[in-house]
Amino acid sequence: MVATSQGVPLLVRRPALDEFVLLMKRGPTISYPKDINAMLLMMDIHPGDTVLESGSGSGAMSLFLSRAVGPQGRVISYEIRKDHHAVAKKNYRLWRDAWVIGHVEEWPDNVDFIKQDILTAAEDMKSITFDAVALDMLCPQAALPIVYPNLKQGGVCAVYLANITQVIELLEGIRRSKLPLLCEQIIELTQREWLIQPARQDSRLAPRVEAQQNIDEEPQQDEEYLVQEQAVVGGSEGDESLSEHVAALGSVPYIARPYPWQVGHTAFLIKLRKFNPVHPDTVPDDSW
Ligand SMILES: C[S@@+](CC[C@H](N)C(=O)[O-])C[C@H]1O[C@@H](n2cnc3c(N)ncnc32)[C@H](O)[C@@H]1O
Repeated sequence: MVATSQGVPLLVRRPALDEFVLLMKRGPTISYPKDINAMLLMMDIHPGDTVLESGSGSGAMSLFLSRAVGPQGRVISYEIRKDHHAVAKKNYRLWRDAWVIGHVEEWPDNVDFIKQDILTAAEDMKSITFDAVALDMLCPQAALPIVYPNLKQGGVCAVYLANITQVIELLEGIRRSKLPLLCEQIIELTQREWLIQPARQDSRLAPRVEAQQNIDEEPQQDEEYLVQEQAVVGGSEGDESLSEHVAALGSVPYIARPYPWQVGHTAFLIKLRKFNPVHPDTVPDDSW
């Protein structure tokens, strides 16, 4: 805690991981934390898992993957561009270094950042089985034939794509090349931020006023909007149960609505599950 010269207390704290990745220096655009979380769920990642990522980009997704697999797990992250590879590594190091300050246990050093085109990595990955794969790169369908053989049977490859036309290209690529990947889900996550606070008028708390029903009223100008909005919180005339309910809330009316400015579209998330009927592990099961 610190105080300003006027005695206002301020809490100084280290950023949470989602705040850090939104504020850190970027090379390319990051995967947004809300989308990363959904991808982690899609891939059903557990501590101890081995996960493949391409591309590393600015390292936002790598950090979340690192936390999800924990000290016993491993993330292998490919990046084709030297500058992006350097940014991802630097961001990872900065986060780990800062983590030490406020924590007893070290942040695991469990991400291998590899500067290489994923399309040329088949040979290097030959001996590794991945529990899951996360792709955030241009033309992910080109990488699928390389990465799917090392994805475990039943494992999920989660893909992050900005445009719906890219999603169609991805699915068409899978269909044409007959890859054993089933598309289980395509989602887009919208997150609406809400504003909830006591209404103010001339920088003081506004008084609650009785509702007046006036359906002929002209639409309000922007600057009048907030005051008008709190004025109708009391409900319509004659609606006693609503008035009683509002009275129970206290004398201060609240603004309670979504913010007019919101984060728009970020990405489509595609969940591809490996289902390979001719996999060597497949055994006939007569019990079905
Ligand atoms: C949008 S960024 C990924 C951002 C990352 N998910 C994050 O959260 O910071 C896409 C990255 O994929 C990389 N990339 C594109 N094609 C690649 C390939 N064939 N092999 C490896 N990386 C590739 C690009 O250079 C770029 O850095």
